[in-house]
Amino acid sequence: MCGIIGYAGPREPVGVVSEALSRLEYRGYDSSGVAFFGREGSLTVVRASGKLSRLTEALQGTTGLPGTAIGHIRWATHGAPTEENAHPHRSGPIVLVHNGIIENEHALRQELIGEGVVFSSETDTEVLAHRIHRAFREEGNLPAAVRKGLAGVEGSYALAVLCEERPGQLVVLRKGAPLILGEAEGEYFAASDVPAFLKWTRRVMPLPPEVLATLSPEGLSLCRLGDGEPVPAVFEEVPWDPVQAEKGHYRHFMEKEIYEGPRAIIDTLEGRLAEENSRVILPELVRLGPNPTEIVFVACGTSYHAALLGRLMIESFSSISVRVEIASEFRYRPLRARKGAWVIGISQSGETADTLGALELARKEGYLTVGVTNVGGSSITRETEATLLTRAGPEIGVASTKAFVAQVTLVWLLALYFGRRESPEVRKSLAALVRSPTRLEAFLGSVDPNAVDRMARQVLEARFVIFIGRGIDYPLAIEGALKLKEITYRPADGYPGGELKHGPIALVESGVLVVAPLVDPLLRLKEISNIREIEARGGTVLTIGPAGDAIEPLPSFPLPASEGWDGVFLASAVLQLLAYRAASMAGNDVDQPRNLAKSVTVE
Ligand code: F6R
Repeated sequence: MCGIIGYAGPREPVGVVSEALSRLEYRGYDSSGVAFFGREGSLTVVRASGKLSRLTEALQGTTGLPGTAIGHIRWATHGAPTEENAHPHRSGPIVLVHNGIIENEHALRQELIGEGVVFSSETDTEVLAHRIHRAFREEGNLPAAVRKGLAGVEGSYALAVLCEERPGQLVVLRKGAPLILGEAEGEYFAASDVPAFLKWTRRVMPLPPEVLATLSPEGLSLCRLGDGEPVPAVFEEVPWDPVQAEKGHYRHFMEKEIYEGPRAIIDTLEGRLAEENSRVILPELVRLGPNPTEIVFVACGTSYHAALLGRLMIESFSSISVRVEIASEFRYRPLRARKGAWVIGISQSGETADTLGALELARKEGYLTVGVTNVGGSSITRETEATLLTRAGPEIGVASTKAFVAQVTLVWLLALYFGRRESPEVRKSLAALVRSPTRLEAFLGSVDPNAVDRMARQVLEARFVIFIGRGIDYPLAIEGALKLKEITYRPADGYPGGELKHGPIALVESGVLVVAPLVDPLLRLKEISNIREIEARGGTVLTIGPAGDAIEPLPSFPLPASEGWDGVFLASAVLQLLAYRAASMAGNDVDQPRNLAKSVTVE
């Protein structure tokens, strides 16, 4: 949801900032812009509406002076995605980029208008530029002006600020929106996400909230926003491989990331299995004390679907009751969980505003909170008592794929962790989990692209696609529908199979396609009955499930027989590939679907 980048160092900055923006494009793609010091020393702003390629065209052949530069990619909130509303925004010598929302923008704007300020955009960001400009005139010092300009500003922000009169300084800070610092030999980066600068350095430091960092090619200093007290800079090396943030030989990140599913499982299991893979250890949870009396999962979108699977898995092996809540709904209701409950937020980005809001509510009500996230150092890691990292590596495609696989791995681990170790079912399930990456890898290697394409064509020809499933197939069904909707823009929905006859079955007629994952061994026969009901009414059904059991004829897309819950990985890979191929055939921008952004940092 908007991406920002700041650079201070000896390289030609327009190239650095443009390349970094191309790695942040998944965060927004309504408009973009850069600011840099031109050859004659003045601070130059170049902006373009539309995709980043428009900015790249506008920048053809442009170079800037080594030193400092900033860039922005926008997902519009205040004001249409026009060039005027694109960042950077300027007021006198001050030029800045912003990710977030200024909640008291109206009052601040009126105050500035009262002082005679003329606005050139509809954005909330512009008020910050004018306020910092006003403060700079009073203070004559950029970091002090930023601190003063932000006093009284409400909302969330990650900001990168340049000043024409201070060419060697870049000031960055954040509150409620992510910002990560990167350090290399004689140069510094600040970006909304690590992949932006992963090519140049793996030494990172998530900037703490309300800490102001001043970056220059000569060094870095940090101080608290409120009282200016110095804060130490502590950088750590991230294990992410820069190659993970490149497309390699794949056409799209989404395709590459689907094939990275097995690696996501292996890395998420790393260090969490002991005694020759016979015991799950989650040291992160030990200091929380006794096991929870109840678990409340809060999450959005795909992460919510992983939580639904988590409920089924945990309840299979322990007596802990599990609730799953859509974070944006949950945060405005009384929580009413049992004493001793844990509230577990699942979020790939660790920055989803609704999930963070739900966790904040839980913490205020005295519950222990746990974050499950793919991004170390993200806000969720700071705002929960314990963090369980999924280790899918950077996910660039907007539609979540390998991160979902890693989330499912983690909730499966949780189920085994809370289960009785001596139980034969738990042991069997653990063995299946350990084997699952190898089996998924082999399966992905054996997928016949023509078979996926045949299904994809049927999907594109259908007027409406209904995904159905029961048990573990239900979260898979709604995840399959979400994937299809978000990248093909085709009407699709997911329902519990048994619920169909309570309404949605009225939609079934010729031209309506039903897709049914069938990997829940306990409910398969019931699912097949639901399929028969659809076929009896003229609906076409595509089934994705293990071959060679009670289904006649064979499933439309046969899978190897499941071991434990690994059918979830196999079927979700097919659903992901199905959406991917259908969207590619439709000529859509798979990695950057319209209206979406990778991390949703506003409510
Ligand atoms: C769908 C998708 C979204 C996210 C949702 C939550 O493919 O990616 O539905 O799952 O926005 O994001 P995180 O997991 O970052 O909290």
